[in-house]
Amino acid sequence: MDNNPDTATDTLPETDLPEAEAAPQLLPLAELHLHIEGTLQPELIFELAERNGLALPYSGLEELQALYEFSDLQSFLNLYYANMAVLQTEQDFADMTRAYLARAAAAGVRHAEIMMDPQAHISRGVSLETCVNGVASALATSVEDYGISTLLIAAFLRDLSEESALEVFEGLLAMNAPIAAIGLDSAEVGNPPAKFERLFAKAREAGLRLTAHAGEEGPPSYIIEALDVLGVERIDHGIRCMEDPDLVERLVDERTPLTVCPLSNVRLRAVDTLADHPLPAMLAAGLNVSVNSDDPAYFGGYVDDNFAQLQAVFELSDFDRSRLAANSIHSSFASEERKAELLDELNRG
Ligand code: HPA
Ligand code: ZN
Repeated sequence: MDNNPDTATDTLPETDLPEAEAAPQLLPLAELHLHIEGTLQPELIFELAERNGLALPYSGLEELQALYEFSDLQSFLNLYYANMAVLQTEQDFADMTRAYLARAAAAGVRHAEIMMDPQAHISRGVSLETCVNGVASALATSVEDYGISTLLIAAFLRDLSEESALEVFEGLLAMNAPIAAIGLDSAEVGNPPAKFERLFAKAREAGLRLTAHAGEEGPPSYIIEALDVLGVERIDHGIRCMEDPDLVERLVDERTPLTVCPLSNVRLRAVDTLADHPLPAMLAAGLNVSVNSDDPAYFGGYVDDNFAQLQAVFELSDFDRSRLAANSIHSSFASEERKAELLDELNRG
């Protein structure tokens, strides 16, 4: 069905991508907190629906875009999961991933650690092979095509059972999926990290790196649990650590990376406005924070947009901006050689 004649073409024109805002200077950085399904732009949703012969429940782009008004994490997740219905084939997953890489390159991203949610696809009847191989095929040539080194992170949905996660994890191992790490996402409150203790132990045994969302909507105790029970190396979001001075002291001492997503926090109402965001206080406290886009198609911008808006509100110094970029590189799961290359690029300015 032709859902939107304006975008009904066989190709996926780059002009459909949002323009990079004119940034003062693009620093080379690593994006560490990015859900690939959250890069699905409304225009691409219509293109893929058309290509796959699917009827969307929206008359056109405007009706869909009017739904991008969220009151909390769950209200966003409802639309995020519904929109995934258009992802059917390996090509769909590859096209979505290439669209992100092209836009990220324009934002200065030189290394990206990309989460995907396999359970959100399997539950719709799309095989593990289709979703993993589709994303992985685009990542396999990301350096040549976009100048971005990449790693894939399999994220598990914390509102589902640990049994479901373990089953999918075994499937990933059985297919020798090219994953470097596992993560934990979706509805946080009521689904504490400890629920996934066995999963994270198995992933560690398999030699994978470990990260988890914690302290986005959930309390500081979830951050502590993710560190102590799951043994994660990195915390995604983590902004609610600021409510617990002892935890802040620990995170500073241990240099624990916190992958902060300012525009996401505003759009999901974790903070009232960007001016109320704790990022400056986190930097002042000496926390190891980086700036990331989370779900850029839903939250009003890519990583350069996050920097530009932070700059407009807080007048970050060049020193702070460089520190955020350096933190992202140091906190990545890239090889020491790749980190040294990127830090060198950053220092050469
Ligand atoms: N938080 C939790 N789960 C998610 C998010 C997020 O910001 N984005 C996609 N899944
Ligand atoms: Zn996230």
